[in-house]
Amino acid sequence: TRVGILISGRGSNMQALIRAAEAADYPAGIALVISNRADAVGLDIARQHGVPALAIPGRDFGADRAAHEAAIDAALRDAGCEIVCLAGYMRLLTPFLVHNWAGKMLNIHPSLLPAYPGLDTHARALAAGAKIHGCTVHLVTETVDDGPILAQAAVPVLPGDTEQSLAARVLAQEHRIYPAALASLTGAAAVPADRGISLINPCV
Ligand code: GRF
Repeated sequence: TRVGILISGRGSNMQALIRAAEAADYPAGIALVISNRADAVGLDIARQHGVPALAIPGRDFGADRAAHEAAIDAALRDAGCEIVCLAGYMRLLTPFLVHNWAGKMLNIHPSLLPAYPGLDTHARALAAGAKIHGCTVHLVTETVDDGPILAQAAVPVLPGDTEQSLAARVLAQEHRIYPAALASLTGAAAVPADRGISLINPCV
């Protein structure tokens, strides 16, 4: 299965997906990485792995979000992509792209949804005094950080945690569950049992 990844920045989840897909028995291959920011570090990382990487900056299209998304959609289709993974893609999608890829577009979010959709999830979890936090891979629907959940991982919130320490603990789990969720979506029959994961809980 050919997969396209949309990024905006450092691309560590993108890299986790690329690394997983480099394994011969992984049921998906990364065909293309697209960033809406030309300066995204993730573009260089993708190229270092030999993955085609393209900047399609939103600002090239001014306020015309539809034209920007049409260009992204065309690039994904030209590359033969069948599934799209959002990995730190920081631009809101319009219904155009969401509907075109319905059931075939995944997102990773740094909280245990439905808790803390939106930004600053780690600070909000700390402020709430949460004892458990984590991350979620879900199918993308028109509502931001909503949609059917494919995988989650929980981590403990520890005494003395800062936003940074908590984010790092969650990020390590993001890098585990995103490749696992993509594998279980694309290759259920061919995937070893330990990759067909719907809950990964390092707390227990
Ligand atoms: C991750 O925390 C992801 O969950 C969120 O944005 C961040 C992207 O980080 N959607 P990276 O670009 O994958 O390193």
